[in-house]
Amino acid sequence: MANNRGQWGSRLGFVLAASGSAVGLGNLWKFPYLSWKNDGGAFVIAYIFAVLLLGLPIMMAEILIGKKAQESPVPAFEKLGGKAWSLVGWLGVAAGAVILAYYTVIAGWSLRSFFQCVLWSVEGYTAPGPNDFGVFLGNGALQIGLTFVFTILTSVIVYRGIGGGIERASKIMMPVLYLILLYLVGTALLMPGRDEALRHLFVPHFSKMTTTTALEAMGQAFFSMSLGLGAMITYGSYMKKDESVFRSSLWVLIADTSVAILAAIAMFSIIHSVPSLVQKMEANELNAVGMLFVTLPALFYTTMPGGVVVGPLFYVLVAFAALTSTISLGEVVASLLIDRKGWSRSKATLVSASAVFGGSVLCALSLGAVEPLSTIELFAGKQGVLSNLDHLAANWMLPLGGLGITIFVGWFLGKKACQEELGLQKATAAFTAWLWIVRVLAPLVIFIMLAAILSGKDFS
Ligand code: PHE
Repeated sequence: MANNRGQWGSRLGFVLAASGSAVGLGNLWKFPYLSWKNDGGAFVIAYIFAVLLLGLPIMMAEILIGKKAQESPVPAFEKLGGKAWSLVGWLGVAAGAVILAYYTVIAGWSLRSFFQCVLWSVEGYTAPGPNDFGVFLGNGALQIGLTFVFTILTSVIVYRGIGGGIERASKIMMPVLYLILLYLVGTALLMPGRDEALRHLFVPHFSKMTTTTALEAMGQAFFSMSLGLGAMITYGSYMKKDESVFRSSLWVLIADTSVAILAAIAMFSIIHSVPSLVQKMEANELNAVGMLFVTLPALFYTTMPGGVVVGPLFYVLVAFAALTSTISLGEVVASLLIDRKGWSRSKATLVSASAVFGGSVLCALSLGAVEPLSTIELFAGKQGVLSNLDHLAANWMLPLGGLGITIFVGWFLGKKACQEELGLQKATAAFTAWLWIVRVLAPLVIFIMLAAILSGKDFS
């Protein structure tokens, strides 16, 4: 069966697809937002440490499992570790389905903002009413419609398979995404807030580097690099045997981190150019969602040079970033049915997408349209299905999945097997360092994160 599963055409194909998974809404809204909350510079440094020290080794561990087993997460764990370990795979697939369900709803907002911006660019800008976004959120039919469109876009690509679907789509979307981002950054750097923005982002105050900074950097590294749920196991399973796990992972890290930092440069430059915005940010009156879907569109047309072009392009960027992430999540769920049940890709895609769409509908209606859905509070302070699922995935499922993955690779897979899969003749110093990070440091840090969550910290 393994031979019919499909394969990446080249290393570039894998790197672009995996970077596509990693680069997503997390880079565009959460990274800049968390950076602002945590002194800018201090967070950037903590984040770079987190991705190098933890993100990279864990990503390698995930890709290694997939590449060795040539199976998606559940059968991969079953094959390499036996029945009990397949639970980690199941947790991953469940996390994939949960994230996909709510992520698609948010991704759908980018379509609305895109059309809104095109309209403004063509017909001239008219300021929306103060509660325009709230009304939009509460419009259940529109929320479901946009989510449906995004579900179809995702499914069509997953349906077309690895080489002809995901790889091809990533090869188009990722370069376009990067070009738009560079254009956005170039434009933002023409604004008066540039110097202040760069200072804010790159000159850290080490006194502001607290435990919270470090923990938030770690949580963000997990989500942003798509770790802990087996997305990288799945993508790794389509890798050719002779590809380098280390080099591929490093490229994904570079792509993901550079997009996050570039997005932050653009956002910070824009914010620092508008004093009233700086005040709002300082007063904590503006959250990440508001920034991306309410404040930015208005700024494009009122303050930013060339905003008529930047506006629509920016939401193409957001949509592409989201779509390359949703296809990786869709692939995690669909590949389970393909590998485990032997279903055809078309049947697996149709069934998994329909099931997840059911969850998306609940999320779409939980933004104000339907009463119990929008008020339900499973986790303290989290209102509505969407927020609760986000909390569940980011705070519990991803760290627990990451814990399972690192313990499995570090202690159960065997040193020899790891060495072989990483293409090493003998255990080099770098290999030993990697192994001990995966064995001890990574699980320890995840334990600390879980302890922090138990005592009230929130990574969602
Ligand atoms: N990494 C994506 C982002 O930054 C989210 C994601 C998480 C995608 C897990 C796939 C798997 O938005």
